[in-house]
Amino acid sequence: LGKKVIHREMTSSTQILAHQAAKQNEGHGTIVVADEQTTGRGRMSRTWHSKKGSGMWLSMILKPELPPYLAPQLTLLTAVALADTISEISNTKPLIKWPNDILFSNQKKCAGILTELQAEQDKIQYVVIGIGLNVNQELSDWPDEIQERATSLSIETNKQWEIQSIMQHFLSEFEQTYDNYMVKGFSEIKKRWEAYGFKLGELITIQNLHETRRAIFSGIAEDGALLIKNEDGSLEKLYSGEIDWFNK
Ligand code: BTN
Repeated sequence: LGKKVIHREMTSSTQILAHQAAKQNEGHGTIVVADEQTTGRGRMSRTWHSKKGSGMWLSMILKPELPPYLAPQLTLLTAVALADTISEISNTKPLIKWPNDILFSNQKKCAGILTELQAEQDKIQYVVIGIGLNVNQELSDWPDEIQERATSLSIETNKQWEIQSIMQHFLSEFEQTYDNYMVKGFSEIKKRWEAYGFKLGELITIQNLHETRRAIFSGIAEDGALLIKNEDGSLEKLYSGEIDWFNK
């Protein structure tokens, strides 16, 4: 992992570059990183603010031997490696909001993960996992509506950070976690994820395109789905949606 790094000072989005590179046969473990993105993208077609030098903006090309339905496990695994990195370097206690946002205990978000899968006939061609970690921003770097919910490592710790060394720490953490997962499977990742789980064991509202549900968040399923417990005690798996957070 990271043997080949494609670095740009400025690009539209490292996700777009990574897809192009993967289609041109760039191999497993290639990293695409930029100092600045002009159209960084988040989940659900949202914008990801990626000002120059203010955060870690990177995308990884992976070619795992996995059936496509297990791809969500890769997202959860990435979140665990990122949360471990943040807690190790900064002595803070991050939380993971299912499936893949990293929050601090004030519930403000400092990182997001975007997994994009290219599969054909039930086989993964490649996966691009994008990570955006807010590092050195001040609140005023974001528009008002985002300021309420966003934070950076610098805001939380009152100091400036060197992005390059955070990236190295993360990549080595990710590699270990990924290799371990490929040998031993998901159960250890699931345990590590649950130790960081935001609102785990609590009553949550979860919203997706079709419905809003209220239930107890009781854990992560073996395939990476969100496991909820309904009022009648029945367990159910959800594969998409957003947990309520700042009333959103
Ligand atoms: C989210 O929380 O919605 C996911 C955010 C993912 C942002 C990262 S920054 C690097 C990579 N390039 C992008 O355009 N998006 C991801």
